[in-house]
Amino acid sequence: RQIADRRLNKLLRRGEIALHIAAQCEINHLPVLQDFVNRRNRFIIIGMTDTALPAPLPERDCRLCPRLADYRDANCAAEPDWFNAPVPCFGDPQAELLIVGLAPGVTGANRTGRPFTGDWAGDLLYATLGKFGFSEGNYDKHIDDGLRLKNAMITNAVRCVPPQNKPVGAEINACRPFLAARLASLPRLKIVLSLGKISHDSVLRAVNALGGEVKLKDAPFGHATAYEMRHKTGGFTLVSSYHCSRYNTNTGRLTEAMFEAVFADIAGRLSE
Ligand code: URA
Repeated sequence: RQIADRRLNKLLRRGEIALHIAAQCEINHLPVLQDFVNRRNRFIIIGMTDTALPAPLPERDCRLCPRLADYRDANCAAEPDWFNAPVPCFGDPQAELLIVGLAPGVTGANRTGRPFTGDWAGDLLYATLGKFGFSEGNYDKHIDDGLRLKNAMITNAVRCVPPQNKPVGAEINACRPFLAARLASLPRLKIVLSLGKISHDSVLRAVNALGGEVKLKDAPFGHATAYEMRHKTGGFTLVSSYHCSRYNTNTGRLTEAMFEAVFADIAGRLSE
């Protein structure tokens, strides 16, 4: 493992592409690896390690999901100045809290390139993160607003914008390796906050992709639920909330007070 780490650091310094694979997790069986192998001519597998390292990112022009890739092409043609690519995670690589949304909104995160940024749902999410001390600076709906997350990171179950905000099962599955890799790569992860059922179920399946054995029926989605998760190389508490979408807040399904109560619970758990 030490040899692998030394070689990895050297390669990263030289700017070559490297991928670390968490021990015993099955990321190497999943499409993400094939995609890297297919697309990178300087791809090197260093070896198996349980070291926490940066999660693999989808290619900017990832085409694992044909429908989403076509939609992205159309958006690129119509709005060439928008980000129009898989939206990367945003936040603190030493985060104890990982927030998992659904997918970028077309005129929000897909436009700006940062999860929830410019999306309606981002107004409540970023305001709440600020209230609970998980951010520094002001959220101003664009990627250059100087906002920094502290002890928190945000990602999405699906990294590309889906038509009508609705990813299909195959797309959620195709993107899961990136989520699993992210879960495996955060060295201090204690809590995952899933926003909505799609995110919740995808996190459960990601846990199983990492060698966990959770049955979906034993951990049903609900607002303010919490379940302990274990996989081969780690674990965390999965807290879930109704998604802070415009629909949920406008209909009163999720109120600001309900959302803050979830964060108060998380803050309490992190201070234990
Ligand atoms: N924007 C995101 O990035 N994710 C969501 O789930 C909703 C809006």
